[in-house]
Amino acid sequence: MNNQDIINEVRKKNDIVDVISEKIPLEKRGKNYFGVCPFHDDTNPSMSVSREKQIYTCFSCHATGNVFTFLMNYEHKDFNQVLVDLANRVGITLNNIKVKKASTKYDEWYKIYELANKYYQNNLLSKEGESAREYLKNRSIDEETIKEFEIGYSLKNRDDLTKLLTAKGHTLDLLNKVGLSNEDHDIYYSRLMFPLHDLNGNVIGFSGRIITSGKQNKYLNTKETELFKKGKLLYHYHIAKEEARVKKSVIIMEGFMDIIRASTVGVKNTVATMGTALTHDHIKEIRRLSNNVILCFDGDEAGVKATLTAGELFASENMEVKVISLPGEDDPDTYILKNGKDAFLSLINNAIYYSDFKIKSLSRNRNFSSSEEKANYIHEVLQEASKIDDPIRTEIILKDLAKKFEIGYNTLEKSFKELASNKKEKKQVIDAPKTIQPKNKDKYQKASLSIIYYMLNKQEIIDVVEKSHLVLPTEALRALESEIVYFYHKYGFINEADFYTYLTPKGELLNLLSEVLAMDLKTTLTKEELDDYIKVIREYNLKKTISNLESKIQNETDPIMQVKYAEEIRKLRIGES
Ligand code: UTP
Ligand code: MN
Repeated sequence: MNNQDIINEVRKKNDIVDVISEKIPLEKRGKNYFGVCPFHDDTNPSMSVSREKQIYTCFSCHATGNVFTFLMNYEHKDFNQVLVDLANRVGITLNNIKVKKASTKYDEWYKIYELANKYYQNNLLSKEGESAREYLKNRSIDEETIKEFEIGYSLKNRDDLTKLLTAKGHTLDLLNKVGLSNEDHDIYYSRLMFPLHDLNGNVIGFSGRIITSGKQNKYLNTKETELFKKGKLLYHYHIAKEEARVKKSVIIMEGFMDIIRASTVGVKNTVATMGTALTHDHIKEIRRLSNNVILCFDGDEAGVKATLTAGELFASENMEVKVISLPGEDDPDTYILKNGKDAFLSLINNAIYYSDFKIKSLSRNRNFSSSEEKANYIHEVLQEASKIDDPIRTEIILKDLAKKFEIGYNTLEKSFKELASNKKEKKQVIDAPKTIQPKNKDKYQKASLSIIYYMLNKQEIIDVVEKSHLVLPTEALRALESEIVYFYHKYGFINEADFYTYLTPKGELLNLLSEVLAMDLKTTLTKEELDDYIKVIREYNLKKTISNLESKIQNETDPIMQVKYAEEIRKLRIGES
């Protein structure tokens, strides 16, 4: 068996419905299975999984693919990793087959960052790295942690790395673009270096920390590049993604020293932003790991503020949020250093609900001297409590409130119930299922996509289309068509699921294929219908040729050429009728 045969075998033995339902609940409705799509924010079951076709499609975000792509996206793994997992799942031995990774324009970037990463790490071990090693020792960061987090050091000379990388054939231009050099100087010198990884674990930048007190910024991050976007990147995500599934929660911290320290006491389901506020993109990525987040920010005023901002954001996304409050000015790093592993683990286990944290914070810096102040506060608390789904917890909050302000429980309960029922009505309006309109396509696009659809679902159509010498309207459609023809002739068969695997490393055509897979056309196709599609596309091509000639006439100054083009148009028009 060749590679492709083995891959197809692995796919066939791993039924897509079984594999996906190990990750998310699926419910059978008619021929297909439905579940809540994990690839966009949703609560409605908009993902359909077909046992017959062995593909999944989301009607809302248009995510689609086969069992391999599902796991690649769901678990943030590459094709080879997923192939190994699925082969193991059904007991197929792979004998070291490896599928070539798609080559991208960023391959050189990754190579450069990897080289820089190794270089910085070596520096730390060198004679010149002594002061940096001393610094780490003083902060109680041991060798094992240095290795695990690939901590390095950039030397005092301001062009060592740039020289090294240009000697290896990388241009100054590119080194400037990837954020490691400025003209022919290194960006980083005399700093402790922390590599930053993307969601899949590739190094895509660095953060450098000063080791002596000075006027410079404490941390210097790689500038925003095509790969490194602060609004998207989460430090430690590539490690947390495995841990979060085991621990069933993600802990969010402010600084990456905090993450490193927590890791030394075995808490690794952690992520941090790069010194920026959480964005919607961050939350989307976090949600893929778990629906339960624990905020563990610094104990100072700024940390409390950040907790409130982040808490609101997560709560508005219907995620379960808990909070760890650190005492005084501690951050997780200093807390763990002072109090040790067990104290920190117990903080995690005793994290309180965000709503309780918020209610507590509402009374901060407030004096209840006037009745108006008191009433305002009580209303704010009730408002907060009405967001809580658990009647036991709301009763506890109401009882506390009644006791604290010496008002009747019934009065409070009455106001609370009014608030809660208002909320419910509003919520129902918001939660009404969205109907998703299929994207508007003109008839030419529709005809083209339909032809591709049937080429994949009914092999005999491939021959007909080939023989018709049909030219599809766009470059991408033509490329997809010729991939189908190639696959079919090479392997002697074709189906959507295996063709999807084949196309996965080729990247750019996948979106188009996804559009095709998302169509749910009837299973039969008569000869007349096919001829109709072909006619529609020919008509489109003709119109385009004519309008090209017309614009040529417009731009042409030579009357003889103008006549020639007009004659061509006339001939085309006759052919048309
Ligand atoms: P902190 O100042 O809390 O950093 O900033 P830290 O993690 O406690 O660092 P140490 O313990 O002093 O070494 C939190 C985060 O803000 C970003 C970094 O990502 C840092 O981890 N930051 C901070 C910067 O980007 N630049 C800075 O100058 C400072
Ligand atoms: Mn710190």
